[in-house]
This record gives sequence, structure tokens and C-alpha cells, in this order.
Amino acid sequence: MDEVIRMDHISRYFVVGDSVVKALDNVSLSVERGEFLGIMGPSGSGKSTMMNLIGCLDTPTDGHILIGGEDTGSLSESELAYIRNRRIGFVFQQFNLLGRLNALDNVITPLLYSGMGVGERRERAMHALERVGLAERMKHRPNELSGGQKQRVAIARAIVTEPDIILADEPTGALDTHTGNQIMDLFRSLHQEGNTIVIVTHNDEIGRACPRLVKIRDGRIEGGED
Ligand SMILES: Nc1ncnc2c1ncn2[C@@H]1O[C@H](COP(=O)(O)OP(=O)(O)O)[C@@H](O)[C@H]1O
Ligand SMILES: [Mg+2]
Repeated sequence: MDEVIRMDHISRYFVVGDSVVKALDNVSLSVERGEFLGIMGPSGSGKSTMMNLIGCLDTPTDGHILIGGEDTGSLSESELAYIRNRRIGFVFQQFNLLGRLNALDNVITPLLYSGMGVGERRERAMHALERVGLAERMKHRPNELSGGQKQRVAIARAIVTEPDIILADEPTGALDTHTGNQIMDLFRSLHQEGNTIVIVTHNDEIGRACPRLVKIRDGRIEGGED
């Protein structure tokens, strides 16, 4: 058993004025290396909160998160930054590409400050763009690409560091059904190559396409451990 993610009795509360929003309420979840997990739930159910916690972009109010067996609560800010930059690849609904940079330079971004030479960074980024079928668009800026192409660039940027986990928060949410299905096909083939993938969605069809599906509602996993 090779557990890449372990959420152990995680809660995340937000204080808003006089009230407390329980975005996550005592959630436990384990993900094995090589799994393709879908997390499905309606808007406001806590999906993005969960992704932000797994991705070390946020810290829980209560509970422990282990990434590759390491308790993230005991890590320094620079160790957390290393996990975020090198061990996790993020894909977002709105792509989050840098508009000034062409596709190739967007994909190179996570490799900056890695100690890797310019030539190797470029080679790796070109390889990642080839992997997502966009090599011939590497000089295009985001505003010269379709939504589906932008998401492919974002996926190339997520895989360029060869991360342990790919986290995708509503990756098809800004795309039409056909384009969204093509993006799911790409995730499926990345999974077949051995990648660990966690996708969040509120869409039934996308959820059903995931080999393992967990449902979340009001900050709790349906049928969860407790
Ligand atoms: N930074 C925040 N401050 C206050 N409330 C928040 C914050 N982030 C999320 N929430 C609340 O937590 C709940 C879960 O939000 P979120 O995880 O974004 O849901 P989802 O991604 O499933 O739509 C919602 O009620 C949301 O309003
Ligand atoms: Mg969300």
C-alpha cells in the first residue's frame, strides 16, 4: 500500500461575522498512488476547500493531512512550498495561465528556480506540451487559444514537474460538454500512464467517468468513516 494522501479527521471552519461556516466537518479520506479519484458534490459543499487543503494552499482548523506519509502540519513554510511547487500539479477551472506568456513559457513556470538549466527546462516543457497534443501551439498566448487548448496548456504545466499528485478543481467547468469530455480523456490517459489524479466536480457525468468516486455534501463525505 502506498498512500499519497491521507486526510485524518479534517475540519475547516471559516468565521464570517458572527457565524461559523463548517466548510469541512470531520472528513477522513485516503488516496493510494496511481488512483484516479473523483470528488463530487453540489456548489458550496466544500470541494475547493478540500483541494486547497490537500494542495497545502490552506491549513485545517482541526485534523491532520499527510502527503506521501509526511504530516504537513509539522512542515516549515519552505517545505510546504516545495510540496506545492514540485510534488503537486494544480489544474483550475479558469486555467490560471499568465496572459503575457506564450504556452511554452507558461509550462516552464513551475521549473523556474528549480536549479534546472534553461535548455532542460525548455525541453521538458516542450515534451509536456507534446504530451497534451499542443506542441504546435507553443508560441501562442492564452488569448490565441480556445478554452480546451488553454486547459491543455494548464495540464502540461501541471505535469511538467512530474508531480506525485495532479489536483484538478472543476477542470471542465468552463468548457462545453464535448471539450470537457476530451479533457477527461486526457486525464484518463495520464492515469493509465501511472499518474495519481484527484478531480473535483459538481457534474454527474464527469463524476461517473472517475474510477473511484466520493460524494461530499455540506462538508461531509457521504457514507464516510464517521
Ligand atoms: N475563505 C472563505 N471564507 C468564508 N467562507 C468560505 C471561504 N471559503 C469557502 N467558504 C465557504 O465554505 C463552504 C464551502 O466552500 P467551497 O469549498 O468553495 O465549496 P465548493 O468548492 O464545493 O463549491 C461554502 O459555504 C463557502 O461559502
Ligand atoms: Mg469550488
